[in-house]
Amino acid sequence: MKLLSVIVILVNFISTSLSTNCNFPPDLWCSSKEIAELCKVTEQCAANSWNVKLDGPLVNFTLYYESLCPYCREFIVDQLFPAYQAVGEIMNLTIVPYGNAQETLHGSLWAYTCQHGPNECVGNLIDSCAIYYMNQSFYMPYIYCMEKATATIDPITAAKKCGPPNSAPVGGILECAKTVFGNRLEHEMAVKTDALQPQHQYVPWVTLNGVHTEKIQDEASNHLIKLICETYQGSKKPEACKTFEKPNTNRCHK
Ligand SMILES: *[C@@H]1O[C@H](CO)[C@@H](O)[C@H](O)[C@H]1NC(C)=O
Ligand SMILES: *[C@@H]1O[C@H](CO)[C@@H](O)[C@H](O)[C@H]1NC(C)=O
Ligand SMILES: *[C@@H]1O[C@H](CO)[C@@H](O)[C@H](O)[C@H]1NC(C)=O
Repeated sequence: MKLLSVIVILVNFISTSLSTNCNFPPDLWCSSKEIAELCKVTEQCAANSWNVKLDGPLVNFTLYYESLCPYCREFIVDQLFPAYQAVGEIMNLTIVPYGNAQETLHGSLWAYTCQHGPNECVGNLIDSCAIYYMNQSFYMPYIYCMEKATATIDPITAAKKCGPPNSAPVGGILECAKTVFGNRLEHEMAVKTDALQPQHQYVPWVTLNGVHTEKIQDEASNHLIKLICETYQGSKKPEACKTFEKPNTNRCHK
């Protein structure tokens, strides 16, 4: 039975790999979500090696942000995206683009007012649509690219520029941002943000396993990878956590 399932998996591996640009040897296919996706073996890896590796509950981490806040940009670019790449497999990451915005209902549509002006509302909407239309391994690099780009260009130009390199369906996302449906998606972000207990005081604002404290916020802002590694309860941690496992006692004593 066991042997049979191994053979079935192998056959799947081989037949799926023939139809892709997967240029990695099979023993690396489950080494990261990115490679697994390229090699089209995500399901097989999730069902086999990843479940074996994950022996603790995922660390819930949520970022509340607004698209044009320079400190949100800094957090996403310097901390969140690198952490997602390094230890994403042990994170249950949620991002909520709304922040310090406000909403009022006008007829059947929500009208948004944003801290950094109307362009920020457009940026939040684009992010909400991207989150809806893509899975996380696609919307994270896309939003990371847009956050970097909006330091100098507006959100719509950034959405277009960042689309092709990240295989994002830009047409659909920009269309969504103009529709009632996109308006509702953004309202869901407002609802999530307003549900925070305690209410957020600033953005970026993070919660770790549902909790916000100044200590968590500081640790996330300074070294998110370390914070996620230390919070994860599983015994087998990702490679990137090894650096933090034991204190570095290497010294040149006199
Ligand atoms: C991931 O987080 C979301 C909330 O952001 C929650 O609804 C979901 O249950 C969490 N999943 C796991 C596996 O912890
Ligand atoms: C994410 O979406 C892409 C593109 O639609 C797809 O190829 C990939 O299999 C998806 N990955 C997961 C983990 O669902
Ligand atoms: C993550 O959030 C989900 C949903 O709220 C919860 O069931 C789970 O216990 C949380 N995980 C941890 C490690 O706190």
